[in-house]
Amino acid sequence: MYKILIADKLSQKGIDLINSTEGFEAVVKTGISEEELSSIIGDYDGLIVRSATQLTEKVLENPGRLKGVARAGVGVDNINIPEATRKGVLVMNTPGGNTLSAAEHTMALMLSLSRNVVPACVKMKSGGWDRKLYVGNQLNNKVLGVIGLGRIGMAVIRMAAGFNMKIVGYDPFSIPTQAENFGVEITDSLEEIYKKADFITMHIPRNKNTENLISKEQLEMMKPTARIVNCARGGIINENDLYDALENNVIAGAALDVYNEEPPENRRFENLDNCLVTPHLGASTEEAQIGVALEAAEVLMDSIKGGPIKNA
Ligand code: NAD
Ligand code: MLT
Repeated sequence: MYKILIADKLSQKGIDLINSTEGFEAVVKTGISEEELSSIIGDYDGLIVRSATQLTEKVLENPGRLKGVARAGVGVDNINIPEATRKGVLVMNTPGGNTLSAAEHTMALMLSLSRNVVPACVKMKSGGWDRKLYVGNQLNNKVLGVIGLGRIGMAVIRMAAGFNMKIVGYDPFSIPTQAENFGVEITDSLEEIYKKADFITMHIPRNKNTENLISKEQLEMMKPTARIVNCARGGIINENDLYDALENNVIAGAALDVYNEEPPENRRFENLDNCLVTPHLGASTEEAQIGVALEAAEVLMDSIKGGPIKNA
């Protein structure tokens, strides 16, 4: 019997799929410490995680019979891939399952930010009624800068095109041919995006090249009316510099779904009127969670049985 450890909260459908597959058994143990995980990991043939479990060098020290790890989601920045590879453990993800949910959340943040939905709602629920304070802006005809033209970036572009936004896209590694169909102006200069855009959104992984991609210097290039959305990963925008820029109205607003540290110990962004925050909800829809759970279970079980290997 192959044993699969589910170390983060996973849709029951993924767990049921494993338990109904001959020769496989799922064991759910969420919220366990690094010590506990490193001591039990070698008893399992496979592991499924989301973003909470950190697969550090220490956890992977004695992998025992562990053959593969599946990340139910896109970002694998919580997994030490070089160490897993050295130990012969295959790392897979589920790239397509939450694309639309993350793109829709990005649009929800952009719309809420530009129309002051959250502060107006809070005000009205506390007995207020202020129509002047919450005058916003349309998305129509505004310039949207999209950094990263992968799955989510392109899904945002398709949606933003429906709002008649003018889109400027940047991606040094891949320019999908459909970008042209949505009238995307491709630039090889991030500076152009910072200077031109009314809204900026990023859909890129967090890595050495993208950490602090947007810091004080870049924020100061932006229009004072610019609004920025980060539904990708914390740390791509330097949080200290963003806080200062919002506090001093260097830009008009920001919406954050992701943080350097999650949950953030320093809750300062919550106190800024021009900042909208959500607790890493980009992929939090029933549809996406079922999709990524089923795909993670499938790719992991396939790899343990000897193939086909997908999303590694
Ligand atoms: P993807 O791999 O399809 O696309 C990423 C794109 O970024 C690629 O086209 C790549 O060429 C580009 N890229 C890489 N480095 C870049 C750089 N320095 N500058 C510009 N472009 C660069 O991934 P995706 O499915 O679109 O997901 C994007 C990111 O969104 C993921 O890495 C993940 O961290 C994050 N994400 C967040 C949530 C959430 O809940 N908030 C949900 C899903 C994904
Ligand atoms: C991802 O990378 O897929 C997202 O951050 C969503 C998640 O954490 O599951």
